[in-house]
Amino acid sequence: MKKIISVVLALFILASVTTLITGCDAQSGKGAVSGERSGALIGVAMPTKSLQRWNQDGDNMKKMLEEAGYKVDLQYAANSVETQISQIENMITKGAKVLVIASIDGESLTGVLAEAAKENIKVIAYDRLIKGTEHVDYYATFDNYKVGVIQAEYIIKTLELDKGAKGPFTMEVFGGSPDDNNAYYFYAGAMDTLKPYIDSGVLVVKSGQTEMEQIAIMGWKSEGAQARMDNLLTAYYSDEPVDIVLSPNDSLAQGIVASLKAAGYGSADKPYPILTGQDCDITNVKQLIAGEQSMSVFKDTRTLAAKVVEMVNAIMAGTEPEINDTKTYHNGVKIVPSYLCEPVFADVNNYRELLLESGYYTEDQLK
Ligand code: BGC
Repeated sequence: MKKIISVVLALFILASVTTLITGCDAQSGKGAVSGERSGALIGVAMPTKSLQRWNQDGDNMKKMLEEAGYKVDLQYAANSVETQISQIENMITKGAKVLVIASIDGESLTGVLAEAAKENIKVIAYDRLIKGTEHVDYYATFDNYKVGVIQAEYIIKTLELDKGAKGPFTMEVFGGSPDDNNAYYFYAGAMDTLKPYIDSGVLVVKSGQTEMEQIAIMGWKSEGAQARMDNLLTAYYSDEPVDIVLSPNDSLAQGIVASLKAAGYGSADKPYPILTGQDCDITNVKQLIAGEQSMSVFKDTRTLAAKVVEMVNAIMAGTEPEINDTKTYHNGVKIVPSYLCEPVFADVNNYRELLLESGYYTEDQLK
């Protein structure tokens, strides 16, 4: 009995010490911060309010950081690089201890981050890699290459290409914003997976446009995607329909659906093509339910925010944050130690479980 009591006691002491050292309950990443670290200012710089996901990212970060005892300066930069730089400068002046930055242009923060380094401020790149500087300490994101693989695998499975279906199927390919490092990973994941079928002629890109320079949509703009889709439909699809549109994310998929609708898709003789996406934005989940978009990739912003709060806690406690990738994300100057969260496939069959039962959205939001 005595032995059992001492083992239990030892475990209890160990757990308390761990919590003290990390300042965080490892399970939730929400634990309170003790002593002088409590009340420290954390700057959170988000790119824009115009896309739903960043509002969610920002709200989650603020809530979780405040629950952990920090003060939070949360800023949105309306997709303007200059605005984001001056917001970060402001955070430095206010004495932020850690900066969490989802950049607009991954290559434009070198100057301001040199200033941050002089003040010993740690920097976490949030979702998008910050490039061209040594002054970025960690990167927290979803596995961006895998996002593209999930989209491509959906196309392959749906058309049974892996079971030998020969098509040929017509396809067009869209790319994300050329100033966002993620766009190249989504593209690579999808195109590496689809390449054998393009090479063998089972998938036919009628426009011939498959290079990032030809297919990228600046600023991830829906209108940009809509305009390009309009042009493709007019130039290449007047006699036969397009069967597949590979869209890297939901904002592009919104523009693509608008274009397809205007061109008469969505009827019995002209059904919507297979259309991919990413983010599970509310508009797009409605598109999934309406049969206008085939799938999306769910990146639970709560998971990413919780991970970043754990990173902040570790930094503030002077310990090393948990990392699960030290190979993939070279920013031109160094490999940035990263934590990659898992993206998840979503479609009309599993959205209830993924998005409603998990409390991510309410039924009303999807009406
Ligand atoms: C994010 C995507 C998002 C896109 C447009 C990317 O960096 O990873 O989730 O759809 O930016 O905001």
